[in-house]
Amino acid sequence: MKFITTDSYDKLSRMAADLIAAQVIIKPDCVLGLATGSSPLGTYANLAKKCADGDVDFSHVTSVNLDEYAGLDGTNDQSYRYFMDTNLFSKINICPEKTHVPNGCADDLASEGARYDELIASLGGIDLQLLGIGLDGHIGFNEPDEFFTKETHEVELDPSTIEANARFFASKDDVPTKAITMGMMSIMQAKKILLIANGANKKDILDKAFNGPITPMVPASILQLHSDVTVIYSEN
Ligand code: GLP
Repeated sequence: MKFITTDSYDKLSRMAADLIAAQVIIKPDCVLGLATGSSPLGTYANLAKKCADGDVDFSHVTSVNLDEYAGLDGTNDQSYRYFMDTNLFSKINICPEKTHVPNGCADDLASEGARYDELIASLGGIDLQLLGIGLDGHIGFNEPDEFFTKETHEVELDPSTIEANARFFASKDDVPTKAITMGMMSIMQAKKILLIANGANKKDILDKAFNGPITPMVPASILQLHSDVTVIYSEN
């Protein structure tokens, strides 16, 4: 594992964008696993600039996102589909039909999970998976639990996650209590993993995840078993 500490969110974002751009340059038809949350916003802005400058071509790239809130469709401005369209896909030359986000409005989220896993498998898996980390150690929406879940599945969000994500909604009561998330299999089978985290409040959970025991109670700790993980952290 490579743990890179930088002194600003701006540098973290540029480094992360450089690593993703390098992946696309090396393999133009790669599969990128993408994340939401506030952490990747700067990375996505840098990727948009690289694309506008003609330095990276996303036209052959396929993307698969980690997760989506249950019950929110892509027209809802709090959905992760909307987030991705607004913050990245509309700003780069990726083909919209090659961008995938789990469908949080599917009648049956279990079948949607199976469909999503088959889709990822049919693409040959993920070349580079971008991750953030929740304050409770969640990756995607894999919350602390007694076991790791392999497949894309429905989850009940942890109260601390609802609390943390309430900043994006009008009120805490508007935060969905359920979501659908890629499971650990697709994440761990990604050839490379890039985890970005910023803010002093992420320091403790990073320490637990990467220096503590591997346990489903700290979902990100499973990444200790992956052979190609880069973490970029900025306290500011
Ligand atoms: C959400 C997302 C995660 C993300 C996490 C951290 O819960 N489902 O994928 O990593 O938020 O978000 P932030 O980067 O805003 O701290």
